Amino acid sequence: MFEKLKARWKVNGINLALIITTFALGGSLCGYAGRRLLLLTGLDKGIAWFILYIVLITLLWPLCVLLISIPLGQFAFFRKYIQKIWKKISGKKNNSPVHIVIFASGAGSNAKKIIEYFAGSATVKVALIVCNKPGAGVLSVAAQNGIPTLLIEKERFLHGDGYLPELKKYHTGLVVLAGFLWKIPPALVAAFPKKIINIHPALLPKYGGKGMYGNRVHEAVIAAQEKESGISIHYVDEIYDHGETIFQASCPLEPGDTSESLAQKIHGLEHAHYPGVIESLLQKQNRS
Ligand code: GAR
Repeated sequence: MFEKLKARWKVNGINLALIITTFALGGSLCGYAGRRLLLLTGLDKGIAWFILYIVLITLLWPLCVLLISIPLGQFAFFRKYIQKIWKKISGKKNNSPVHIVIFASGAGSNAKKIIEYFAGSATVKVALIVCNKPGAGVLSVAAQNGIPTLLIEKERFLHGDGYLPELKKYHTGLVVLAGFLWKIPPALVAAFPKKIINIHPALLPKYGGKGMYGNRVHEAVIAAQEKESGISIHYVDEIYDHGETIFQASCPLEPGDTSESLAQKIHGLEHAHYPGVIESLLQKQNRS
């Protein structure tokens, strides 16, 4: 049970112990304060007393746990926890769409498919295209679709703030790498946990890592006389092509396949699957 709670709340053992202690102390404080307040009303224990007690502890409980959470260092957790409960009770739905930011520096065929897939969606909006190559095809794709672009430079991206202020300004809910070759700096990985995904044109963990992109991957796959290749969609961590796999699809390698013909098959798979995988990922994140 404790392991389940740790995974659900994304906390370690010490934090879990502090959270449970906060629940216990906050609950006791709330019960005690509720009874003390009721004494002031002079009501005898009866149905009115009972109803008032329930109302009082419902109102007092968030205050009491928040109060106790401060000295136990769990305020941030409980603030979010109470906000979540409040959202559920009030039935308030967040109607604003999730903002996707696409990082791409190539032709932009994947970016185009993603933009087209979500065009007109009420729940998902492609808010920005980030690119590190002036003149890249993806910039024309963005212009044709009226999507703002941000051209980034290496030093600030890799060794500065990673353009985090700009990403925040666009209320980024998911970063989607689609042919982006620079490594994502630790500052961004930390700022968007499980909110940065990448597509790789091979079946990871094979044929990934630094320098493995585009045709280089396909040439390596053909040289190794593989029977199949495919695509991998995965979360991004601080190591190239390494984060947890979300989705893979494969295609056969036929005699006579060249890096160009294989690239075509791979692009076909990418276009067919990437937008849908993004959509189901966002739906899953929305439910959790
Ligand atoms: C895609 O095939 C993608 O998998 C690959 O770049 C291509 C971009 O094509 N990414 C990598 O190789 C990352 N290691 P596009 O610009 O036409 O979308």
